[in-house]
Amino acid sequence: MNDSVDNPFFARLWTLMSSREPESLRRLRRENLAGLTGRVLEVGAGTGTNFEFYPATVTEVVAVEPEHRLATLAQDAAARAAVPITVTTDTVEEFTDAEPFDAVVCSLVLCSVDKPEDVVAELLSMLKPGGQLRYLEHIAAEGGRARLQRFADATVWPRLLGNCHTHRHTEETIVGAGFRVRDARREWTFPRWVPLPVAEFAIGVAVKP
Ligand SMILES: C[S@@+](CC[C@H](N)C(=O)[O-])C[C@H]1O[C@@H](n2cnc3c(N)ncnc32)[C@H](O)[C@@H]1O
Repeated sequence: MNDSVDNPFFARLWTLMSSREPESLRRLRRENLAGLTGRVLEVGAGTGTNFEFYPATVTEVVAVEPEHRLATLAQDAAARAAVPITVTTDTVEEFTDAEPFDAVVCSLVLCSVDKPEDVVAELLSMLKPGGQLRYLEHIAAEGGRARLQRFADATVWPRLLGNCHTHRHTEETIVGAGFRVRDARREWTFPRWVPLPVAEFAIGVAVKP
């Protein structure tokens, strides 16, 4: 068992939140995985909320989830999934595999790793040439919401939410690592006036040249 990620409060909260997701988020999850083929690495799978959305063209999913309370639930979700999925409790930083992957899936996770630039560079190295990073991530805002995000990140938000940071320029990190982004767009999951630090999501396909 991995004990480097041990967030009992967050694990309980995320178990509750991920069991009650709005249809708008489930639709984005489905879109993020549509058309995937071959062997896929999923980073920080949580309770395995994505697993039901993998298309039958995926031959294998290796999912890393280091918070053991969530990994146990992800294993249950893997057993119900239509495609073969194994769950390991490695962090993405610890994880190694001899075979390159056809795709890597990140959803709501690049906000939570300590060094996103290092992790995205590592993900690039684990893909075959032409392999895809499929991402669905909340992103840094501008103006007043950016100030709210910076305040949240400096205070309670990462402590309560498993190291989540709201003010991350994740799309720039992906491009900076050497991926070529295609089919990318942004979407608001709550009305813009709602004063939440997490509200706008980026979804896209980034290709290893
Ligand atoms: C907000 S949850 C999202 C879970 C899932 N990806 C989803 O879309 O529902 C973030 C997840 O990232 C995991 N995580 C945090 N740090 C990680 C790391 N270094 N390596 C792998 N997973 C990590 C957490 O344990 C948590 O399950």
